[in-house]
Amino acid sequence: MKSLLKKRESWKSTAGFIFAALGSAVGLGSIWRFPYVVGQNGGAAFILLYLIFLALIGFPILVAEIVVGRSAQLSPFGAFKKIGKNKFWGLSGKLVIFTGFIISSFYSVIAGWMLGYLIEAIIGHLNFFNSSQALEHFEKLSSSVIWSVGYHFLFMFLSILILFFGVRKGIEQKSKIMMPLLILVVIILVIKGLSLPSAFKGIRFLLSPNWHLVTPTGILVALGQAFFTLSLGQGTMVTYGSYLSKKEDIPKICFPVVVLNTVIAILVGIAIFTIVFSQDLTPKAGPSLIFETLPLVFTKMKLGYIVAVFFFLLVTLAALTSEISALEPFISYLIDERGWKRKKASIFTGFLAFLIGIPSALSFGLLKRFTLLGLNFFDFISFLSVNVLVPLGGFLIVILVSYIWGIKKAFEHLKVSKKAFFHHRPWVAMYFKLCLKYISPVLIILILLNVLGFF
Ligand code: PHE
Repeated sequence: MKSLLKKRESWKSTAGFIFAALGSAVGLGSIWRFPYVVGQNGGAAFILLYLIFLALIGFPILVAEIVVGRSAQLSPFGAFKKIGKNKFWGLSGKLVIFTGFIISSFYSVIAGWMLGYLIEAIIGHLNFFNSSQALEHFEKLSSSVIWSVGYHFLFMFLSILILFFGVRKGIEQKSKIMMPLLILVVIILVIKGLSLPSAFKGIRFLLSPNWHLVTPTGILVALGQAFFTLSLGQGTMVTYGSYLSKKEDIPKICFPVVVLNTVIAILVGIAIFTIVFSQDLTPKAGPSLIFETLPLVFTKMKLGYIVAVFFFLLVTLAALTSEISALEPFISYLIDERGWKRKKASIFTGFLAFLIGIPSALSFGLLKRFTLLGLNFFDFISFLSVNVLVPLGGFLIVILVSYIWGIKKAFEHLKVSKKAFFHHRPWVAMYFKLCLKYISPVLIILILLNVLGFF
């Protein structure tokens, strides 16, 4: 209750909010995962499905989360409790915060690898002549306790350093520097990629529509990607919404976030695949793409040293603005509900997330043989949070807004002025209602059933 006496932190400008939310969205999911799943699941056909899911569940739920946060001006726990008005919803709010926190613990491990590779690139250690050398190097580093835990620590330290300064001077100000820099690096890499011989092969891999590659699993991958990429279902957007002024027209400022996030992800895909195909290599999935294939490409190509530094800088920046957004819900909870000072809350959260992330960091070396349900610790905890807890969080928020609070009441918060997007546009209200009340819950249940192995 102490917090009621203090003025809540808030964004300084609309652009500040947009950069922060975009920073959260553009992360390892968009840069590392998206390009590959596109290439693998039907190129333009997959992108089309992904866009449909963004429109049907991504954008509406993003708006819903921000409305919940803004109307309550509290962390997800307080916001869920205030709107749901009972213990169950308070508990749901806690679950959502917990999910974000768990994600931040292992996200930092992978992000730490990216930071580590940025340093490797700078000191010129990425010169390999075949892919087994590149892979060996990566396995040596990721299984080393000092390297993996060390960079996990360093990355967490950088994230907390930003959060320490609060919403305006920390998240907003730093995102306003890092996001334009990130966009600039993407553009440089795309220009370089397109200027390479046989760039068209990369474009073809990424963009030509292959409907025969679209499988039921692929459809669910598109659905899950639309969800994860907007940082939904784990408190981030509720928290970012809680710092938003009551004057902002939410759909209008969320729209550019969704569009830019997609444009950036596609551009990164173009950069990666034109670069990979220019050296006649076939891209592999997941970690191998970044740590095995790309270093090889950088070794072979002209100006490869600089391209490598730029590339790892890009991924590290993207991961940093996402990591802070995964940590912030817990910090805002400690400030709101426990009356902690931001500095204490940030250090505590960072330290705890670092500790909980250690077993994930060791999952590729020391704890390789330690398994839970047949998965190593990292795979287990990332599967649990990304595939189970995130959709569950999304489901809870949709139910809260559509059925507990009531769509009508939620909509009242969107009519901020006569000029607001919601005024005089009955079809907009219809669209949101349809998506939030009927389409989203059904689609999310499908994701969960699939993940839990029901079909
Ligand atoms: N949106 C981020 C990405 O695409 C992932 C993320 C999820 C970040 C949750 C923070 C919180 O990588």
